[in-house]
Amino acid sequence: MNISRLINEIKDIAKRKNAVILAHNYQLPEVQEVADFVGDSLELSLKASETKAEVIIFCGVYFMAETAAIISPSKTVLIPDHDAGCPMAGMINAENVRELKKQHPQAKVVCYVNSSAAVKAESDICCTSSNALKVVNSLQGTTEVIFIPDKYLGSYTQLKAPDMKFIIWEGYCPTHVRITSDDILKMKRKYPEALVMVHPECRSEVVKLANAVISTGSMSKYATEKAAKEIIVGTEVGMLHRLKKEHPDQEFIPANPQAVCSNMKLITLEKIYWSLQDMLYPVKIEEPVRSKAKLAIDRMLSLSRQD
Ligand code: 13P
Ligand code: SF4
Repeated sequence: MNISRLINEIKDIAKRKNAVILAHNYQLPEVQEVADFVGDSLELSLKASETKAEVIIFCGVYFMAETAAIISPSKTVLIPDHDAGCPMAGMINAENVRELKKQHPQAKVVCYVNSSAAVKAESDICCTSSNALKVVNSLQGTTEVIFIPDKYLGSYTQLKAPDMKFIIWEGYCPTHVRITSDDILKMKRKYPEALVMVHPECRSEVVKLANAVISTGSMSKYATEKAAKEIIVGTEVGMLHRLKKEHPDQEFIPANPQAVCSNMKLITLEKIYWSLQDMLYPVKIEEPVRSKAKLAIDRMLSLSRQD
């Protein structure tokens, strides 16, 4: 079946089954094209919490589908490939968090959404790359934060909240660490007029070289605001599809074209089709983990809804 026929078929079944297709900005171009909504982690969580659809097809990695299932237990949440995990999320477990809390009983646990449901259930509040500072600043009366699992997002947030003591877990994203400061400097030599925007999961030395350190959702807004002719993009390369589509007159240069998240690319059109046809693969979180994790996510979402 050719791509546009498959896209039409998927849209037809989705309509019949009252399903909404949500896709992360790193998904394959054709997956972004079939989606009802494409966005960053926070935007996708908000969409999942607001949708009237009975079924959510989540085109992203497992923790994202899990987040949707945690906040919408009455909906059927499906991930088209069960193996699409986020390696960073696997770098910490619930026992690690319990141990940290024992060592730092006064601290609040701020948990990046790139984590398992069990880890969220041990946390006070979640954050994403777009609201980490806002979340930390919301913790009134707190002077100590356990930030898990991303050391780079944690360090970047710490720079912006110097009065708070941070205890930072040593997790990282294997895709974003592929982007080095040499990559940025090389591209800046090649495109001296270009602006540089990078994701906060990048190495600290890369972050220092950037004009903007922002979530994937904010990258498109930044391109609109700055209207720069050339922008060097320090994040997973899937982001380039959306940027080029929404800003055809601007040039987007990947800081490192090898920054590919192979897990994100496991989701294909064929798998979305099978997922819709056979209701594969359901994501369900058992109690009491779901309710406890929901508290941490809801605290974050209510901060976002105040905007
Ligand atoms: P965003 O929330 O910025 O889309 O980031 C999610 C992610 O996994 C980045 O690697
Ligand atoms: Fe996880 Fe990194 Fe892939 Fe994002 S890009 S899903 S943090 S491995």
